[in-house]
Amino acid sequence: MEKPIGHDLASSREVNAQVGDAFAEEHVFRIDHYLGKETVQNLLALRFANMLFEPLWNAQAIDHVQITVAETVGLEGRVSYYDGVGALKDMVQNHMLQLLAIIAMEPPSSVSSTAVRDEKVKLLRSLRKLKAEDVKAHSVKGQYTSGAVNGGAVTGYADELGHPSNTETFVAIKAFIDNWRWKGVPFYLRTGKRMPERKSEVLIQFKPVPHNIFARVGAGKLDANSMIINLQPEENIRVKVMAKQPGLDRDGVKLKEVTLDVSLSHSFEGERRRIAYERLLLDFIEGDQTLFVRRDEVEAQWQWIDSIRDAWAAVDMAPQNYTAGSWGPSSAIALIERDGASWHD
Ligand code: BG6
Repeated sequence: MEKPIGHDLASSREVNAQVGDAFAEEHVFRIDHYLGKETVQNLLALRFANMLFEPLWNAQAIDHVQITVAETVGLEGRVSYYDGVGALKDMVQNHMLQLLAIIAMEPPSSVSSTAVRDEKVKLLRSLRKLKAEDVKAHSVKGQYTSGAVNGGAVTGYADELGHPSNTETFVAIKAFIDNWRWKGVPFYLRTGKRMPERKSEVLIQFKPVPHNIFARVGAGKLDANSMIINLQPEENIRVKVMAKQPGLDRDGVKLKEVTLDVSLSHSFEGERRRIAYERLLLDFIEGDQTLFVRRDEVEAQWQWIDSIRDAWAAVDMAPQNYTAGSWGPSSAIALIERDGASWHD
């Protein structure tokens, strides 16, 4: 089954119940093609095949997380599907929440389909529902107007459509996960069409060191470490760390941020990259459900999405315009900058 599986929790339950009458859950394969991406699966390897990151993967060491899925494309002739659906249901309900679940879930006991999906669903159920009173401060809806992308002029969404619309082509959300590991850590999610570049990226922003021993000797501010995981189009992992600038240090130790850069395309040069659907269809034929979405996951995803849609409806939130080729409405910048952080563009 391809998305959309329903258009809200109630309708997705109905679809799942009817399919469930005919097939056992182990015979139902719900596709989220992001799970078929090599780089998304690599997040599991990064987190659970290395000792380095997991001890720091929590609210004690992490200040915030950003997940960006930016596209340069517009409607691509999918008007009849997209209008009335919008970015929240098209991208956040599925792909972004799956990414979030993999980044934030507890370590599964194995890579079996049950173990991994049990942990994902637990995480999805811990997402704090948005309420009408905080939806304006915690989310932004946008719709692109005419502008330029990749050096070419493009028309606005409503012009492409031929009439005005309330459908959002961009959404940014400040999400919280109410569990021990992530207490108080904001997860900023944003996705949009007609952005300046195509990129899917996760940024882990660590907290500053508890005490700066270099402060007195003139080195000034220490930048907190960050890790940037690029999922597409480039596949690389960069960790920004502080290093001492060479010198005799007569005016104090000078520090500079340097980047540890691992290019996965380079490390695995010559290895054939499979497209997501190739992998997923083979797994399906072999009956392996690990990279498919279980019924309870879809429903947990809708539960959170419904809370946002209900809150949007309660405050009558309309999309704000952004110029095609920009990073979304200015309120999306304000959403994160109010917290003293900024998007990694
Ligand atoms: C699809 C959405 O699920 O994912 C599209 O319906 C979107 O609107 C696409 O363009 C993005 O996928 P990818 O693999 O190009 O990042």
